[in-house]
Amino acid sequence: MDDYFEIEGLAGKKLLSGEVEISGAKNAVLPLLAAGVLFDGKVSLENAPIINDTRRMLELLSALGAKTEFDEFAGVASVNCASLDSHSLDVEISKRLRASIILSGPILGRYGEVEFPHPGGCVIGERPIDIFVECFSKMGARAEERDGIYRLECSEGLKGTEVFMRIQSVTATETLMMAAALAKGETNLKNCAMEPEVAALAGFLRQSGVEIEGAGTPTIKVKGRAGRLLSPRGRAKIIPDRIEAGSFIILGALCADELVVKNCVPAHLEAVTSLLAAAGVPLDIGQDFIRLSGNGRTANSVFKNFNVRTHEYPGFPTDLQAPMAVFLTQASGEGLIFETIFEGRLGYTEDLIKMGAGIKIWDAHRASVKGPTPLNGRLLEGPDIRAGLALVIAALAAEGRSQITNVRYLDRGYERIDEKLRSLGALIERKTLTRSKDSALIF
Ligand code: EPZ
Repeated sequence: MDDYFEIEGLAGKKLLSGEVEISGAKNAVLPLLAAGVLFDGKVSLENAPIINDTRRMLELLSALGAKTEFDEFAGVASVNCASLDSHSLDVEISKRLRASIILSGPILGRYGEVEFPHPGGCVIGERPIDIFVECFSKMGARAEERDGIYRLECSEGLKGTEVFMRIQSVTATETLMMAAALAKGETNLKNCAMEPEVAALAGFLRQSGVEIEGAGTPTIKVKGRAGRLLSPRGRAKIIPDRIEAGSFIILGALCADELVVKNCVPAHLEAVTSLLAAAGVPLDIGQDFIRLSGNGRTANSVFKNFNVRTHEYPGFPTDLQAPMAVFLTQASGEGLIFETIFEGRLGYTEDLIKMGAGIKIWDAHRASVKGPTPLNGRLLEGPDIRAGLALVIAALAAEGRSQITNVRYLDRGYERIDEKLRSLGALIERKTLTRSKDSALIF
């Protein structure tokens, strides 16, 4: 059965208020769970987000023979890979989780062989894995692909070498760091992604005994341990989810008078908060919080429109492109959205146009947004995790009722999102679409 959200819009009134606690980052817990393969014992991660992607990654590890636990009350996810007995990733789960590919590096590094399907996940573009295969080959692996299954083999063990990634790729950087940790000799990874989640993984590997430096810069050096596994040294804590935090700040700018976004790292969001502040949003940046105050006295039409060009970190995050487009529909003037990372990440704009947004799509990478325009509630279909939340923000800013399907995508990436929104005063209800209730959808 499929859940959908039913939302009563605030018609541009800023009636939400309160505090929201940001959960651990989806894109930080997934690589750290995959790193469990590098260890000879149990790895425990605190502040693990209680979301379906965490559960899927644990299922993937368990299917390989790992012992896994997820204390969903305490938010602690654990994995013990001492007795892994398979090197082939479960096809069904891997096809639903792009991050499954992150396991390829640690498994190949540890066992000298790995099999996996072309990974699935959000449909935001073609999402090739050529960089992974090219770089593993440079480290000595032999690669073949048959019927959509990739098989990499390197019985004599991976060799440290210099590897230039032709595109800055977050998961390629993460999985190659982990492969290099067990290789023979030093690996020099060049043109690395610099996202905070990459630095968090490197910090975890370093605290566990890997000689690794440069994470957060384009060049990362890893001294390989020639197959010697790591030993767990205490629990690691998952960093806050900068994409969730950014989404709530954008929501607050449009719909809240007073809002405190707590347990976040403002330094991870400068590309977002600097744009919003320049547009006129009254932000107060704290040590581990960002506050909106007296926003209720500012009509959205006072905010100035601006251009958004997505870029690798520390540039504007592609995962906040859709939520920021919703903000632009309510700001005065015209802005251009230029999605430089993915070629299929503007699909949600069709639904915003249906709601009344002044959006013109120029090509697969560019759209212009003229605001402010009133938005009207509609039946909306969330196309992926991040665009799904953008449509929730649009529905809350809109006049009238909306229904948003595909809540399963939101549940992949956001912990208790409807509860958090209700705690701020949002009129959002989770409903289940059953055969007989198809007519429940009002549009
Ligand atoms: C990570 O995906 C995130 N996912 C994505 O978040 C995020 O949007 C993306 O990085 C960019 O920031 C996780 O960390 C689990 P990439 P990833 O490899 O690593 C191309 C979310 O909603 N590319 O950095 O898969 C690719 O097509 C998700 O949380 C190749 O050409 O993205 C893209 O154009 C969505 N060949 C560019 O690189 C490759 O072998 C950057 O993608 C690999 C990537």
